[in-house]
Amino acid sequence: MKASMRSRQEPRRVSNGVIIAAMLLSLCVLSIVKARYCSTPFGPGKPEDQLQEQMNSSIRMETDDEPASAVKTAGEEEDEDVDVQEDSGPAPKVTSAAVAANTGSGAGKKDKSKKKKKPTCFMTSKRSERCEAAGDIRVVGNTSTIYISPLDREWKTKPYARYHDPVAMSHVREFTLKPLPSGAAAPACTKNHSVPGFVFSNRGFSGNLYHDYTDVLFPLFLSTRKFKGDVQFLLSDLKPWWVAKFRPLFRQLSKYDVVDVNNDLETHCFPRIVVGSDFHKDMGIIPSKSAGHVSTGDFKRTLRNAFGLERAAASRGGATGTGKPRLLIISRKNSRRFLNEREMAAAAAEEGFEVRIAEPDQHTDMATFARLVNSADAMIGVHGAGLTNMVFLPAGAVLVQVVPFGGLEWLTRVTFKEPAADMEVKYMDYNVQLEESSLLDQYPRGHQVLVDPYAVHKQGWDALKTAYLDKQNVRLDLDRFRATLREVLVALPPASTSTTPAT
Ligand SMILES: *[C@@H]1O[C@H](CO)[C@@H](O)[C@H](O)[C@H]1NC(C)=O
Ligand SMILES: *[C@@H]1O[C@H](CO)[C@@H](O)[C@H](O)[C@H]1NC(C)=O
Ligand SMILES: *[C@@H]1O[C@H](CO)[C@@H](O)[C@H](O)[C@H]1NC(C)=O
Repeated sequence: MKASMRSRQEPRRVSNGVIIAAMLLSLCVLSIVKARYCSTPFGPGKPEDQLQEQMNSSIRMETDDEPASAVKTAGEEEDEDVDVQEDSGPAPKVTSAAVAANTGSGAGKKDKSKKKKKPTCFMTSKRSERCEAAGDIRVVGNTSTIYISPLDREWKTKPYARYHDPVAMSHVREFTLKPLPSGAAAPACTKNHSVPGFVFSNRGFSGNLYHDYTDVLFPLFLSTRKFKGDVQFLLSDLKPWWVAKFRPLFRQLSKYDVVDVNNDLETHCFPRIVVGSDFHKDMGIIPSKSAGHVSTGDFKRTLRNAFGLERAAASRGGATGTGKPRLLIISRKNSRRFLNEREMAAAAAEEGFEVRIAEPDQHTDMATFARLVNSADAMIGVHGAGLTNMVFLPAGAVLVQVVPFGGLEWLTRVTFKEPAADMEVKYMDYNVQLEESSLLDQYPRGHQVLVDPYAVHKQGWDALKTAYLDKQNVRLDLDRFRATLREVLVALPPASTSTTPAT
């Protein structure tokens, strides 16, 4: 699939520093797959709230190439134990620590666990486990073993912040922490490091931009910023194209090249090791929970530095000296498409925007796309991983999430609406009406899909996904669209206070 970016007046091929390639993103679908949740009968009252509560923790976007069979088989059996360290054999301490952390049942417990010596590995949130040790540390990535002296006993962990999601975790390599054997049985160091090692993984659902950020990059940032570059990243299941994509960000966090820990056949030795990131919330950081009180704003600033993004702030006057704000329309090709993209672009131009249309995909050069997003004052797109690019928007920019027909507000809230505020992005919904949806052509009048979305939700995730996410395209009502654009203009910071250069 080819990505394209075109100005509205003169559609043109993408060439000069623009977007070429093909990305799994366009195949991205949001999915919440949990038979257990879906089969729960919803009581009377507020079905959307109940559904949200029950599906909350499994909201995800995944690429179509994730093994669907794993989705089906992982389901029910594995669900129950994901919050505790199920793979770690006899681990009473960990289990109770995990439970205490998860129930969050009051400050008393927290104080108590602070007085006790922390276990080597423990759940730092429902989604994340961290193991930490100091001493004589020898990492044999080839066998995913970390020898530690001193260490009380063996531990097992998976360094990916999605513990509540067995499907994602089934793809993540497990590391074993073992007491260092004495004498000749100890593996000899082939690389000595003076800084701490930090182990994380890019399996799970990474490769999908939303998961790259919410499962890996935000957690990595909030966990490692405190090292001020003096940390050696050890990436498990390393995918070279993935590292290349985010290398500028890793450079901001570590002075050293990322190590392909499972494949480099070295024994890396460290004075200290951390395995696994902490997790705070979807696409965000809670400063009070982070070492050094880093914030989502710090993350955005770091991204700006990493990718050389010049604009700190959006403005009604735009960046380019045209005096017009730039609207970026995020295009999708395979599902949830805009059917009247050109008309939308024309309408936006008439409302006073300079318009760009772009479709990011897996091979999109990150820096190039980041600069395009950063040059925009407003961004609009149908719900999907492409909206994750809002991390590059300048402060005060407006994000318009087009919510497909089907009662999906709860889904779109957690993924993009709530994270927007911390990113200093103004958020607007555009809720697609039935008249604007391709569903009207696909189903007879009066069909349940058209008249009773919540009844479809109750049939489970697959039904919901098929009906409203995979098979729906949208044709925005241009009058409504124009009205939205006028709201966007009002919401943008006035031109006079604009375009402070990035620091
Ligand atoms: C579900 O998510 C929403 C929004 O993040 C949150 O307010 C609510 O407490 C969550 N509910 C549960 C049961 O986790
Ligand atoms: C790496 O592990 C494989 C199997 O686990 C083993 O056969 C091989 O000898 C190991 N290589 C090194 C250099 O340790
Ligand atoms: C690493 O340090 C240890 C202990 O000082 C030393 O014995 C070993 O030779 C060093 N290895 C390398 C490759 O420098």
